[in-house]
Amino acid sequence: MLPYNIDHVAIAVHNIDAALADLHEQYGAEPVSRETVESQGVEEAMIAIGGSSLQLLQPLTAESPVGRFLSKRGEGLHHVAFAVPDIDAALEHLAGTGTRLVDRAPRIGGGGHRIAFVHPSAFGGTLVELVEGAT
Ligand code: CO
Repeated sequence: MLPYNIDHVAIAVHNIDAALADLHEQYGAEPVSRETVESQGVEEAMIAIGGSSLQLLQPLTAESPVGRFLSKRGEGLHHVAFAVPDIDAALEHLAGTGTRLVDRAPRIGGGGHRIAFVHPSAFGGTLVELVEGAT
């Protein structure tokens, strides 16, 4: 069950173009992918850094989960994503430990990967995303 990589660290931003321009100016970083994920109400960009990625999230609407996060807490860390080899086994393991899950079953996230979220109250006030076999 042990995560084998930090797949990505996600930052919620108001303007993904402005954030990408800042990253480029400050670190010379370029996005490797960019897509709209309607099911999650976000536009996202992935920037590869070493064996992991930075993920920028811009909400499609103010009422989406990331939109509500931004209006409540402002820009900043939104979630940390762990790569796991088998997401069904990981969810079963977590449920067995009494861990509070957002998703009891996997859904499809960016890049077509199977993902699931673990509630921030479970660990360090931080939303954790599990990503199956991504990196
Ligand atoms: Co993510």
